[in-house]
Order: sequence, then structure tokens, then C-alpha cells
Amino acid sequence: MNTLIKNVDIITMDQQNSKYTKGCIAIEGQKIAWVGEEVGLPDSFHADEIIDGEGKLALPGFINTHTHVAMTLFRGYGNDLPLWEWLTEKIWPLEEKLEDMDAYWLSLLGIAEMLMGGVTTFSDMYMHMEYVARAVEEAGIRAVLSRGLQGWHETSHIGLKENRDLYEKWHGQADGRIRVMVGPHAVYTCEPDFLKECKKLADELGVGLHIHLSETRKEVEDCKKEYGKSPVEHLNDLGLLDGHVLAAHCVHLSPEDMDIMKQKDVKVAHCPISNLKLGSGIAPTDELLERGVCVSLGTDGVSSNNNLSMIKEMSFAALLRKGVKEDPTLIPAHTALKMATYFGAKALAWEDQIGSLEVGKQADIVLIDITKPNYQPKLDMESHLVYSAHTGDVDSVWVAGKQLVKDKRLLTIDLERVYNEVEKIQARIMY
Ligand code: NI
Repeated sequence: MNTLIKNVDIITMDQQNSKYTKGCIAIEGQKIAWVGEEVGLPDSFHADEIIDGEGKLALPGFINTHTHVAMTLFRGYGNDLPLWEWLTEKIWPLEEKLEDMDAYWLSLLGIAEMLMGGVTTFSDMYMHMEYVARAVEEAGIRAVLSRGLQGWHETSHIGLKENRDLYEKWHGQADGRIRVMVGPHAVYTCEPDFLKECKKLADELGVGLHIHLSETRKEVEDCKKEYGKSPVEHLNDLGLLDGHVLAAHCVHLSPEDMDIMKQKDVKVAHCPISNLKLGSGIAPTDELLERGVCVSLGTDGVSSNNNLSMIKEMSFAALLRKGVKEDPTLIPAHTALKMATYFGAKALAWEDQIGSLEVGKQADIVLIDITKPNYQPKLDMESHLVYSAHTGDVDSVWVAGKQLVKDKRLLTIDLERVYNEVEKIQARIMY
């Protein structure tokens, strides 16, 4: 299926930061065949479908680099508690009751929310990942999946096996939309030997690690007490930072930690709203970016956010450092937008195919309705997207060349059915 989107304003997020007014995007199969002025459109391109992009702004789909999508069940549950209490007293006891098909329906709910908010790729760490993968395959979104692994009890090897099985069954599947990483949960839930086993598995499979890192002050203090070093130093000394690592949160970092992260090219999934809601703190993103560390954006699970809006996340990312440091020049709008798109792709080691609108890349495209009052006057669209946009402004979404949202409506997910199933799960687990 070939699609031509005409008369559309475009922010490509390519290396030159190319932008077009009344340009066009040609989609050939899964990929972008042309992006730019319509006069440059190759004669050989024949569209099966032509879409008038008048009043729309096209940009690369948002990339949510840290979430636990099936946690949609816990939206609004156990609010306003510290992380450890929230996990041990509220979340973990209920998670034990979750079954495979629950993860499928709960993931579909989260995926629906993300697609309608312009998210085309997400990176997930959770349980029952086989069923998360099925939801991804059916919904048409792109995802990097890892089994959340805890290494402090005798059953930890089961999780490792599940992560391996997930790789063998799903890596590269769904027309290449699904990739797999290895997901050690955190230094406070994984013994050093277990962390090394995770690294061994990741190396054997040729994939990266997805881990929570230095999220709270308590995590850092406990790690120092137990191992005499910070979580970053601890992971580095265990050899875990040698290779692709996606580290979520990174709130409490020393300058030395940040230098190590730069040296080892650790990718950060900055989750500002989750960090605020759990009272964890505010990550030093400007200092990381200044060092050249790749900082992407994640929502974290719905349970600590309480939604999956990357537009909201961008806004918080841009505003927080300005306020904390009393410096309005920090994290400008373009940087926040880059964190939500190109840096997201880079954080997932997928920037050769996604993260910007360029010829030959995957057609993961979002159209924003810019006829709404919050986009007037049309002075600076990057600024509008970061400081003025709402998720409800997302009009259309394509992933791998397939349209998944049209006129603000989902084409691949039956929302009514999903709401119904989720209500049944809630009744079974929570009451
Ligand atoms: Ni998380």
C-alpha cells in the first residue's frame, strides 16, 4: 500500500532539522519514499491513497523508552505513597494475581492510549511478555520488550529463561516491529551474580539491557552501604555497562556517575512525571546532555504517572530544569522534542530506522491537528508541541507504513471490548 500525504507541514527531526511548509510525504510499503517539497516527489511513485494534510503537522512518532504497559490496571491505585511502600504493599501483591491474558488486555489498553497520543514505539519491561508481544503484534505498534527480572530468590532463573524464550519467539517478528532486550529490574532487586547472568544472556543474544538505575536517594544510599559505591559505579565494576544499556530514571547521579555514563555511552530514559509523583527527585538532564549523554523520554507505568502521554512528558522535561536551576535557557523546546523522537530511537539502538522522517526510514508518522486554538498564531511549531499541545491534538498515526489512527480513531483496537475485559480483570483482582 502506497500513501501520499500532501499539503502538510513537516518537522523531520533529521540531522539538518529540515522543516517544510505544504510539503509531502510518500509512503511505500513500510518505508518513507519521499519527504519534502512536492516538486521533488519521484515520478516513479504511484499512490494508492492520497491524504490531504491541510491543517496538519507531520512529525516522527513519539518513542516512549520506559514503560510497563500492562500496569494500566493500576491507574489511580495506591497513589501518593513512597516508591518502596508503593511497590511492596500495593503493586507487587496484586501483580502476583495477574494472568497471561490479563497482560494482553491491559497492554491493549495502554497501547490504545499511546497510539492515540502519537506514540509509535515503546520500550517495555514487565511480566507475561509473551502476551504483551501478542498485543503489540495485533495493534500494529512498534515495541522493544524485556522481561523484568528480579534476582533475589530461587525462582530468578525462570525469569531469565522467559526472557530468552521471548527473544527466540519474538525478536524481529511482527514484520520487524518487535525487538527484545534483557531486563534486570534494578540493583536493589538483583544480586551481583544475577546481574552478571543477565549481562551474559544479553551478550549471547546480541541485545542490550534495560534497567532501572539510581531512581531514588534510598537506592543510592543502600547501594553505597552494601557495596561501597553508587549504583552506576556498581554496574560499571560488574561489567554491565559494556554494551547497549538503557537506564531508566537516573535521578540521583554524582558528576563521577555522569562521566562514567558518558564514557560507556549509557542511554537514559528520563521519566520526569513518574519521578515527581513518587517523590523521587528530578534528574540532572541538562548536565547529562551537556556531557553528550543520550537522554530519551519515558512515561514509566501508568501506575506512577498516571497516563502515557509523551506530549505531557516533553513539557515536564523542558520545564523542570528551568525551574530547578532558575535558568530558562535549559532544555529548549527543540531538545525536548528530540528527546521524545530521535534520542528515543538512539536510546533503543534503532536510530537507523526510526526517530526522524527521512527517505528509507520506517514510516512511523504522526499528524497533529494544528487548526486548534492552541497552535495559533503559527509562530514556532516546536514550541507549540512542547509547551502548548495536548494528546487529543493527535489526528493520525502510521507505524511501518500502516495507518493505525485516522481522524482521532483507532483502526486496529476495539476499545469497547478492551474496556469490558479490563473491567472484568479489575473486578477479579482488586475486589
Ligand atoms: Ni519503571
